[in-house]
Amino acid sequence: MRRKLLMGNWKMNKTIAEAKEFALASKQLSEYAKKHNVDLGVAPVYLGLSTVLEANPNLIVAAQNVNEHEKGAYTGEISIPMLQELGVTWSLVGHSERRTYYNESDEACNAKIKALIAAGMVPLYCVGETLEQFEAGATKAVVKEQLYVGLNDLTAGDVKNLVVAYEPVWSIGTGKNASKEIAQDVCGYIRKLLRDKFGDIADEIRILYGGSVKPNNVKQYLGQPDIDGALVGGASLAVESYEELLKNIVE
Ligand code: PGA
Repeated sequence: MRRKLLMGNWKMNKTIAEAKEFALASKQLSEYAKKHNVDLGVAPVYLGLSTVLEANPNLIVAAQNVNEHEKGAYTGEISIPMLQELGVTWSLVGHSERRTYYNESDEACNAKIKALIAAGMVPLYCVGETLEQFEAGATKAVVKEQLYVGLNDLTAGDVKNLVVAYEPVWSIGTGKNASKEIAQDVCGYIRKLLRDKFGDIADEIRILYGGSVKPNNVKQYLGQPDIDGALVGGASLAVESYEELLKNIVE
């Protein structure tokens, strides 16, 4: 049985003080989530990670990115041991904004995912097609490539804690969320690819939908057989709307 997961991606939002305020205000929500078997998390900027962990230790706290090298001459980067020192156990990998603005390739994602898994951390791997690719009917081919290259060189044992997020690029921050049918179709396809590659462990891997998820549309996704949760940007920033998202998932 896969546990439901609500993960907020704060992107480049919230100062440390604002992150702390949210984390403190979300304490009761974590209790509520636990009682209803939902995992609840957020991905703050690096600067906010330890503050959020300290203010609400019951939240899953994910980095938004990580460097695959342990240390060295990589100006501006953050390594896995640095995250682990703070107690961070999750990291997003390959969010479309990183792919678009920072040229992150599937190969680069693969190196990060392998390093995270080797360190016992949880990678949350984001995949999804652009509008152009969607309109060309290339969604599944794109997702397949991202998944196969991103998860290259891993075994069934390696991926047991992996989380995959399907986020169509055209739906991120646009208010144009994918229909539940499209989301289920692609998430079901992702599970099939995972099964082809890794066998039955695919049934334990959580797959999230992301892209303009709001309190009023989240429930339809969670009702789909292959969608286990949501990765939410804009609607995860205010604690009130985060609470509504959670309550609508639980109900
Ligand atoms: P959005 O962002 O919910 O604001 O569309 C989703 C994401 O980028 O993960």
